[in-house]
Amino acid sequence: MRKKAAVLISGSGSNLQALIDACAKPDFPAKITLVISNKADAYGLIRAKKAGIKTSVISNKDYATRELFDEELHKEIIASGAEIVCLAGFMRLLTPDFVNKWTGRMINIHPSLLPDFKGANAHQDVLAKGVSKTGCTVHYVIPEMDAGEIILQESVPVLKGDNEKTLGARVLEKEHIIYPQALKMLAESGI
Ligand code: GRF
Repeated sequence: MRKKAAVLISGSGSNLQALIDACAKPDFPAKITLVISNKADAYGLIRAKKAGIKTSVISNKDYATRELFDEELHKEIIASGAEIVCLAGFMRLLTPDFVNKWTGRMINIHPSLLPDFKGANAHQDVLAKGVSKTGCTVHYVIPEMDAGEIILQESVPVLKGDNEKTLGARVLEKEHIIYPQALKMLAESGI
């Protein structure tokens, strides 16, 4: 029995694509039952539709509070039968109530070697600090941002002349490798 996963996105969805491609393999232990975006124009929605995956747009603008928005998210995820939630470029902070409902079953991909460079501007911060190495991390989601237990990491060099775009592209290549690996590990972990 393959574990059912919901993927939450806000944008391009290249990590979503990596998960879709992994799930297309016959022996992969998970399948994506729903993709939710908080942005109607997220390109990831097109990727999901192309793969025949159900999509849903839940715009945070339609909800007066974070709590109400997260309740709707939870309702849709449960309705899809998902047992795992993958955050893949989902640019909303989630309430502790929501996060606690998914303890040990919700994972995120972050573009730095956590615990270094938490937050939304990781590449910018890496370049400003002048470090020679960065990377990406898949971690469990806990109420504190980018602070949950680390599942997998991969590093890349920061090269002379790098900008956010060149560095971001190098990191993304690794994200696309470790995110499916981490989902596989979680799906096989007996949760
Ligand atoms: C990735 O860099 C991910 O680590 C971060 O947001 C970006 C999403 O990219 N959380 P994409 O939408 O998967 O292409």
